[in-house]
Amino acid sequence: MSQRDLSLQTLRSLCPSEHHYLLSHWDDLDESQRRGLYEQISQVDFEGLRREFGSLPGSEGGTGTEEGMAQSVCGTSQLADLAEPPEAVRLSERTPQLLAEANLEGSRAISAGEVAMVLVAGGQGTRLGFDQPKGMYSIGPVSGRTLFQMHVDSLRGAMKKFGVSIPLLIMTGPSTDGPTREYFAKRGNLGLSDQELMIFQQGTMPAVDAKTGRILMESTSSIALSPDGHGGIVRALAKTGWFERAEQRGIKHLFYAQVDNPLVRACDPLLIGLHRLVGSQATTQVVEKRFATEKVGNVVKLAGKTQIIEYSDLPEQVARQTNPDGSLKLWAGNIAVHVFDIDFLQQCRHSAQALPFHRAHKTVGYVDEFGKTHVPEKPNAIKLERFVFDLLPAASKSLVVESLASESFAPVKNATGSASDTPETCKAALVDLHRRWLRSAGVELDEGCSVEIHPLWAWDEQEVQARFQHSARIQSDTFFT
Ligand code: UTP
Repeated sequence: MSQRDLSLQTLRSLCPSEHHYLLSHWDDLDESQRRGLYEQISQVDFEGLRREFGSLPGSEGGTGTEEGMAQSVCGTSQLADLAEPPEAVRLSERTPQLLAEANLEGSRAISAGEVAMVLVAGGQGTRLGFDQPKGMYSIGPVSGRTLFQMHVDSLRGAMKKFGVSIPLLIMTGPSTDGPTREYFAKRGNLGLSDQELMIFQQGTMPAVDAKTGRILMESTSSIALSPDGHGGIVRALAKTGWFERAEQRGIKHLFYAQVDNPLVRACDPLLIGLHRLVGSQATTQVVEKRFATEKVGNVVKLAGKTQIIEYSDLPEQVARQTNPDGSLKLWAGNIAVHVFDIDFLQQCRHSAQALPFHRAHKTVGYVDEFGKTHVPEKPNAIKLERFVFDLLPAASKSLVVESLASESFAPVKNATGSASDTPETCKAALVDLHRRWLRSAGVELDEGCSVEIHPLWAWDEQEVQARFQHSARIQSDTFFT
């Protein structure tokens, strides 16, 4: 932006007139504050805000009302009692033939370079209470490897197994971007080449006043912004031009995982194979819920579509419904492991319906047009987020695949001492899985000793078995590397 461009007039043309209150303090700002505000305003998705809330009252064609602002966008919660279990490939349906066929199909696609992986790591990790990006949290039960290392190692294991280079895309957010880039740069990309690693930042959305729909300012020179949710991935990736590059390279599928779950198998060939065999555009891996009110999203069939209903939106009596054998009717828990077709994501990037905003009522301090600071005591604002799982109902063909939680899901959400999903429960799950693999290879393990297997040493149970030709006994904590 040149000096001449940075004028109030330019900014007024960039910012719709109904939001010109954002410029109330322009005359009092210094050069760098003006630049900052200009940058922020040029990034605001004003069209998305207008779609969400209508035009502001008082503006030309204004439709927004107080009631309008407060209404909920999430229609699924009202329909929750109509939810049915999803059609899914259950564990019991995995015949040896299906497993072999799907694994082969998935392996072929990976070996042919048709798969890339994305790791979402833009969240603020508030519950864990760690002051760095969550990916930098040490989780390896013996090695102390970080969450980022666990995922990268798993992907490098897949590259070795399938003899191919697989691109890793890491989505960061405003608070995790700088430290994440520095972390990878200082550690030689954890072994990935510059061509294999792409770090990109998700977008933000402004917090708006719940009563008026006006954008809140956190200071006289900056807007109150927050990350636009993991569903921001489509918009953010599109902005980098990655979709076009992926198409040119022949990449057809994007394997999606969250940074906080180190049990996920990078580019799981079985999941990718099933996705391809049925011609799915969006596939999701689920686990059987441990109990009715477990805090995971519920994968259901609603209005003929696979959808996810957040646990907070599912009435308890609906969650508690059982089948005649006593098992849960709505059994499928979301673990946020997905496979998406690239051309499907391309379609969704142009569709506002595919990734609607979800509203969260939050308490957000702000500065008003007169420069007065307000510190509200109760929720006064609406923050908008997109959820990646909203892509499922947008797909013309989707697929749900059950997996065992003990093999695929051990998230790090909460701080040590909490009831669930802590670093300790995650480490225990990693140790349990690797102990099972070693036992299946005939290895004797002393009670209580922790084991951890590096994916480049053995990527799966079969590779562990191949490592042990003779009997072995493990008597102390061991990292197989
Ligand atoms: P969570 O919803 O669990 O949030 O994100 P979080 O940031 O990890 O933790 P809390 O809620 O603040 O305690 C699930 C996954 O989605 C990513 C997170 O990094 C995590 O991998 N995420 C979440 C994003 O990438 N962007 C977002 O805007 C939100």
